[in-house]
Parts: sequence; structure tokens; C-alpha cells
Amino acid sequence: MIPVILCGGTGSRLWPLSREAYPKQFLPLAGSETMLQATALRLDGLEGVQAPILVCNEAHRFAAAEQLQEIGRAAQSILLEPCARNTAPAIALAALAALESGEDPLLVVLPADHAVADVAAFLAAVSAAAELAAQGNLVTFGIVPTRAETGYGYIRRGEKMDEGAWKVAEFVEKPDAATAESYLAGGDHSWNSGMFLFRASRYIEELGQHRPDILDACRAAHAGAARDLDFTRVNAEAFAACADESVDYAVMEKTESAAVVPMDAGWSDVGSWSALWELADRDADDNLLHGDVLAEDSAGCLVRGDNRLVGLLGVRDLVVVDTDDAVLIADKARVQGVKKLVQRLKRSG
Ligand code: GDD
Ligand code: MG
Repeated sequence: MIPVILCGGTGSRLWPLSREAYPKQFLPLAGSETMLQATALRLDGLEGVQAPILVCNEAHRFAAAEQLQEIGRAAQSILLEPCARNTAPAIALAALAALESGEDPLLVVLPADHAVADVAAFLAAVSAAAELAAQGNLVTFGIVPTRAETGYGYIRRGEKMDEGAWKVAEFVEKPDAATAESYLAGGDHSWNSGMFLFRASRYIEELGQHRPDILDACRAAHAGAARDLDFTRVNAEAFAACADESVDYAVMEKTESAAVVPMDAGWSDVGSWSALWELADRDADDNLLHGDVLAEDSAGCLVRGDNRLVGLLGVRDLVVVDTDDAVLIADKARVQGVKKLVQRLKRSG
């Protein structure tokens, strides 16, 4: 089994700590290791796991390579994208690289920016999924939904299969709020974790069937790739011509061969400051304080004061993130909107 670690996202909702030059997967947000390092280490102990394939943006190649080196790991390849084309092409590049060996390995696709509290439960789910993937299924990992989140994919469970899994009756990526509410109320849906397990050839077949344009562009980008030390640079012109589409829309919504394995492993995609606050251990006042922080009669806050002393007095549910050149002060219930601030910043800059 080869881990395919996707580390090409921008993590803009974790601004101002997560920046274009250093997005969240390269930061130690949920522990002492960076999120990429934690992802690479999480599969330790699983039998038959090979060195990972990383897929990241050209701009982040040194961060990716150095962070693996720091934990004593080497990738079997680091595939560099000249521009972001979302996850369907990124996974296709990894699958094409994996098939080059003449074998048809199982690929476990892991976003580099997720946190998993219960690693044993995670590994048990991956093992169960490997059995189903070996039979040709495209396996997803289902999380019990706790809110009508519109930023996730939803999986409706169909017929029961072996390994405690179900066939996927329907996969709906990022439904609108009313649809998400109805899924939550109905109880037949899981959240899609964003991790997948399938044979390399099965992904290529399904992509070819549902989005032949993406497969063709990726084949051309792969064929024109150039090796540079540990890195593989895909052909820039061919890759730029590829459609921008996620695996969820391009393949998972369309395939008839999807299965879902339940995963109850304290998963979080650390999508926002409030998600980070939720998953971390907090103090008696429910504050998550990082760095030099003095809090008086304040509760439910997340503060990162890495540069200087931050004082809180009589405030509730605030997010305060202090960095060298920017400070964020936000209502914790509104932090999904940080993305909007970043968009404004980009437009004005
Ligand atoms: N290499 C590469 N290139 N990686 C990418 C690219 C890209 O162009 N775009 C995104 N990624 C990486 C991100 O860094 C992240 O680790 C992962 O792929 C998923 O991308 P997101 O952009 O974070 O997807 P999402 O959060 O909107 O949705 C996905 O994850 C949800 C759970 O967190 C979907 O799979 C949803 O269905 C799922 O519920
Ligand atoms: Mg995400």
C-alpha cells in the first residue's frame, strides 16, 4: 500500500498563521509535529505500507522534503504541480507514477492537513478498507455527522458489505444548507472524511470513464515530467491545460463502485480556528492559549501569541492570533469568514 499525501491546499481559513508561502499542512497546529509530519507518521505499524508519494505545489517543495527528513522519512517521490488543479488531477498524477513500477498498488489518499486523535481506530478502518479496495472498490471513510456542515461531502449508505462496510448509494459533495439539514436529520448519511483507498488502476479507469479530459491532461503532464533530485516536475503546459476539479465531483459522485467504511477516530479536518479549538485540550475556562498569554475572567477563547504578551480581560469566545505582520481578532462563531478576509487581502495586494 502506498500513501498518497495531498499537500497542495492553501488553508486560508487559518490566516494569519497559515500563509500562501507556508500553508497549514506545514505548521505544527495540532501537536508538536507539523500536520504533514503527523500524516506521514500515522500509518506506522500498518503492515505492508511503503514510502509515500507526496503531491504538492512547486513552491512548497523544500518545506515538504525537509519536513519528511526531520522525521527520518523519505518519500518515494515528491510530485510537483506548477499550479493548483485540485484533487482529481493530483491523485491521477500519483496513480500514474505508482503504476510505472509495473505493479498495481493500493493507494491510500491522505490529505496532509487532518488531525486524528485515535490512531488505532484509524488504522483498523484503513485495514478494513484495504480488503475492499483489493476487490476493486473505491473506498471512502465515513464520519458520523454532528452538524449540517456544507463544506463536506455526504455519503448515503446503501447495501451492507463485508468488513463492516456499506456500498455507497449516493455521494453528494458540498450540499446546500437545507439538503445538509435533511441529511443530518435522516440519519442515513456519513460525512466523507476526504481520505480514500483504491487500486491505482481502478482510479485511473474511473477517471477515464467519467472525466477523460482530466485523465488525458494528467497523462500528458506525467509523460512530459522531468526528474530533479528527489522531485518530479510534471509538464507545466500540459498540467495547466487540465480542468480544476476535486476527486469528489470528478469521480466519487459518479462511480458505481464506491464503498464506505465507518471511521470513529476523533477525525477533524482542522478547517478553521474553531475546529482547532474544539479538538485541542483546553484549560478550566475552556480557553486554548498558546504562547505568552494572560487571561482574566475570559472564557472559550483561542489565543496564539507567539511574539509578545497578549492580555485578555472579560471577553468570551474570541479568536486572537498574533503574528509578526498581522493580527486576527474574530468572533469564534464567525471564523469560517476568515477566508473572505484573505480574499480581500489578495484583491487589494
Ligand atoms: N496536491 C494538491 N493539489 N493537493 C491539493 C490540491 C491541489 O491542487 N487542492 C487541495 N489539495 C489538498 C488539500 O491540501 C487537502 O489536504 C486535500 O487536498 C483536500 O482538499 P480541500 O480543498 O481541503 O477539500 P475540502 O475540504 O473542500 O473537501 C474535501 O474534504 C472534506 C473533508 O475535509 C472533500 O473530500 C469533502 O468531500 C470532504 O468532506
Ligand atoms: Mg479540507
